[in-house]
Amino acid sequence: MTTTRVLLTGAAGFIGSHVHTALTDAGHDVVAVDALLPSAHGTDSKEPEDVRQVDVRDLPTLTKLLRGVDVVCHQAAVVGAGVNASDAPAYASHNDLGTATLLAAMHETGCQRLVMASSMVVYGDGRYRNRRGEFVEPAARRAEELAAGIFDTTDPATGESLDWELVEEDSPLRPRSLYAASKVAQENYAFAWSLATRGSVTALRYHNVYGDHMPRDTPYSGVAAMFRSCLEAGEPPRIFEDGRQMRDFVHVRDVAAANVVAIDAALPGFSAFNVCSGQPITIGEVATTLAREYGGPAPVVTGEYRPGDVRHIVASPRLAGEKLGFRAQIPPESGIAAFAHAPLRSSTPAGPPNV
Ligand code: UD1
Repeated sequence: MTTTRVLLTGAAGFIGSHVHTALTDAGHDVVAVDALLPSAHGTDSKEPEDVRQVDVRDLPTLTKLLRGVDVVCHQAAVVGAGVNASDAPAYASHNDLGTATLLAAMHETGCQRLVMASSMVVYGDGRYRNRRGEFVEPAARRAEELAAGIFDTTDPATGESLDWELVEEDSPLRPRSLYAASKVAQENYAFAWSLATRGSVTALRYHNVYGDHMPRDTPYSGVAAMFRSCLEAGEPPRIFEDGRQMRDFVHVRDVAAANVVAIDAALPGFSAFNVCSGQPITIGEVATTLAREYGGPAPVVTGEYRPGDVRHIVASPRLAGEKLGFRAQIPPESGIAAFAHAPLRSSTPAGPPNV
């Protein structure tokens, strides 16, 4: 096996720290950096021993660090759905200016390979068929329908409920949140860079990631951490809508493994892959499994809803299997059961992300 020198950004984050371990275990030489933003790491966070405090918008420092680096593995990002438009500059600055600066530094130092964290949020809503089996562009769910407890996505022509289908990577990109907009922009910058430089880009579109050291309950956390936080407070997990919304939960160790295979595969040009378990599950099942395994109160189906949420988003794992040889190893059923007792991140995020 040849040792690859990898610059890993976001190395102190939830996903980045697992990628760090997986790359080191695979024998790669890792230069680990992280901006250690207070919005993710709190104000009293110490630089972990093996991670340097570097902001990816700092071109001179990146240019120095990139000497001798074969591949950049870019995990650094401000995450979550965004609370309101005040978060827009932070997403644009850290995620998009950050990626643009990184690409410039790679160009200046001749580094030709990028593996980057993308997200299922680039697709917006999932993929749907009507009862006649035809693919249908779903109507955006209306506030009056949601308030009346009508959660299913409907056919704009007939008003009929639609059935969900697996989302493939060539599905249209329809970002619906600030975070999603910044992820699409990151992919677009990276695509343009790969054309201009003939560099290689592999964008990994993570589905719902969960696992050890997931950040606790904040407006920027995913649902698995929200449910865990309810249980720890002795309260039932609160299920929004009717709990039948489908997602694909992928364990963070599988996400880390996907990064290692993407680095080792060194595919030419630009490619994007779903990183998912391939075993869809309802939000209701996630809540029930966590409550049962934790030994806490049974979840409540609240009928509440969040205006920006999509109904179903369920990924196809086919392309990542064929082109990267990636197959998730941890089934959501056992992974989520184990997550009921997994350690969560100890630091408390301090406020919204700043620019
Ligand atoms: C989540 C992330 C998104 C990330 C994506 C893939 C957030 C807010 N969303 O998208 O940024 O890119 O995974 O990793 O971080 N729900 C409840 N009870 C709660 C909270 C949520 O029932 O207490 C429901 C929501 O209404 C939704 C589902 O759970 O239907 C999933 O919610 P969530 O994990 O927040 O968002 P995703 O859209 O799946």
